[in-house]
Amino acid sequence: MVSAPSGPGVTAPSGPGVTAPSGPDVTAPSGLEGHAPLVVVLSGPNLDLLGERQPDVYGAATLAQHVAGAREEATALGLVVEDHQTNHEGELVDLVHQARGRAAAIVVNAGALTHYSWSLHDALAAYDGVVVEVHLSNPAAREPWRHTSVVAPVADGTVAGFGGLGYRLAVRAVASLLTARAAGPERGTGPERGAGEPAAGPERGTGPERGTGPERR
Ligand code: DQA
Repeated sequence: MVSAPSGPGVTAPSGPGVTAPSGPDVTAPSGLEGHAPLVVVLSGPNLDLLGERQPDVYGAATLAQHVAGAREEATALGLVVEDHQTNHEGELVDLVHQARGRAAAIVVNAGALTHYSWSLHDALAAYDGVVVEVHLSNPAAREPWRHTSVVAPVADGTVAGFGGLGYRLAVRAVASLLTARAAGPERGTGPERGAGEPAAGPERGTGPERGTGPERR
């Protein structure tokens, strides 16, 4: 019997090992059915300095406050949040590996690694759950080197430019995507595809073509 995850930064809606409350009809990873789906919130370099770091760009709230917002949203949606922050690329890769088969989704703000970490890209490509990329600022409106994200091609979507609200929105996106996945592949690709229409291409992680076909977007 697998119990809900424990360790730093983990809370369940009502204690470890509980079943999900009246949240959406979402899927837990195989073997963890009946448990509130786990969302791993990963934060990369320098995000530990939020609150002190360039408040004009990133705001005055701390990472702990953003994670608390994500957790509050998750609890209301019947999800469990586990959070980690690291300044080290390899540790972030390890944390993605540790989410495999255990977490239904990853919400990741990789900080500057967003723009060049192909090892993080590859780790996320090897992860089967939902991936939502989040940024406090809007990198597309900043310096040119921030315009490229190597996370975006292996994410289901990106939330950027909404400050701390982005963490709550990312969790809502996770819940929505998990519900859509539980409903079936042909209905679960997002509102822009039109209800009932088949997906335009292979979904990430759902077929044998994964790994040889196009990346998520
Ligand atoms: C950031 C944007 C990145 O370009 C930057 O390197 C960060 C924070 C954001 O949340 O806006 O560290 O990911």
